[in-house]
Amino acid sequence: MLRRVLGGGLRGGGGAAGTPRAPARAAADQTPADLARERCKAVTSFYHQPAIDAAAERPSVRLTPTTMLYSGRSQDGSHILKSARYLQQELPVRIAHRIKGFRNLPFIIGCNPTILHVHELYIRAFQKLSDFPPIQVRSDESQYCALLRQLLEDHKDVVTLLAEGLRECRRHIQDERFLRPFLDKTLTSRLGMRMLAAHHLALHEDKPDFVGIICTRLSPKKLIEKWVDFARRLCEHQYGNAPRVRINGHVAARFPFIPLPLDYVLPELLKNAMRATMESHLDTPYNVPDIVVTIANNDIDLVIRISDRGGGIPHELLDKVTEYHFSTAEASAQDPRLGGAGPMHGFGFGLPTSRAYAEYLGGSLVLQSLQGVGTDVYLRLRHIDGKAESFRI
Ligand SMILES: Nc1ncnc2c1ncn2[C@@H]1O[C@H](COP(=O)(O)OP(=O)(O)O)[C@@H](O)[C@H]1O
Ligand SMILES: [Mg+2]
Repeated sequence: MLRRVLGGGLRGGGGAAGTPRAPARAAADQTPADLARERCKAVTSFYHQPAIDAAAERPSVRLTPTTMLYSGRSQDGSHILKSARYLQQELPVRIAHRIKGFRNLPFIIGCNPTILHVHELYIRAFQKLSDFPPIQVRSDESQYCALLRQLLEDHKDVVTLLAEGLRECRRHIQDERFLRPFLDKTLTSRLGMRMLAAHHLALHEDKPDFVGIICTRLSPKKLIEKWVDFARRLCEHQYGNAPRVRINGHVAARFPFIPLPLDYVLPELLKNAMRATMESHLDTPYNVPDIVVTIANNDIDLVIRISDRGGGIPHELLDKVTEYHFSTAEASAQDPRLGGAGPMHGFGFGLPTSRAYAEYLGGSLVLQSLQGVGTDVYLRLRHIDGKAESFRI
């Protein structure tokens, strides 16, 4: 039965539950015969489970950012080969753990064509990474980098696909407590793998103040400003105007940090604050209150508070807003997938994903609503300078 369902989904049979996405762009230059052959291999490996089962039994070896920083340089360049060999051991293990997560999904969800498509992407990634010969010399490592780049590209829409697929079958899932751990785990594990892969690729670059993806003297103020500009542009496009953003607190702080997770979380939080501000001032769009971002830096963590005067989150919604798929966006006019400058809101994934990422990185995301006035969002992230206990990627 499963074979039939899986086969149907993989052949691209649409059916009532929705139509699977076209294969990722990186596969676009392949001929249909190549694709068919590759898919066939992926399905075979699904049934040839021992390799996946064996990898899923192995524990993942997570690195501290301090280890990544200190092993990110060497005189003779040997750190690059070491890093590639670590990834070669580690990535199949992490992917196998995730494949196990997909297999444990209730049948009705696992059969959804979009979820099945993502499941298949993981199986294919497992296969490609496991098939790669041992990395011995620099030319092997270059090819491995090409594979990493291709996989990053192939998997770039996974969050949207999971959001779409699970939304399609949400009515079958009675128990909310079940979906959240699956999504938290899948999304944070994906973040970890993408960070490791991006770090390895970036070790080849010679960018000032960077070792791989680690910025050795990050200015939180500069990073916040970058995402404020981005969010304001989207907001102006959508509402004709955008709130100004004032940044205060430790504006001169600089320290080692990994900007990548902030590149996801900051735009989500700023878009939310701007949307709330604009939608609570629809009569006076050219006269809206500022958003205030406060930076607090201390020995243990970095705290970023985003305060808006967008009316707050009503008492009855406060627990709901951090649930996956919860959004009040249906009430507003915009389709989350609209083109143009990009959407101001998505599938109700902004807050739950940001919270999962913050917790994965040893921090937290806490909302305080001043109902009727506005919302304060506190994002805490642990330092990575090795002075206090850090997290592992
Ligand atoms: N700063 C805020 N002020 C008021 N409501 C907010 C704020 N941030 C989030 N929300 C509410 O939480 C919901 C979920 O937010 P999010 O997870 O980012 O999903 P989305 O933006 O796609 O709706 C939003 O639809 C909105 O109703
Ligand atoms: Mg949002």
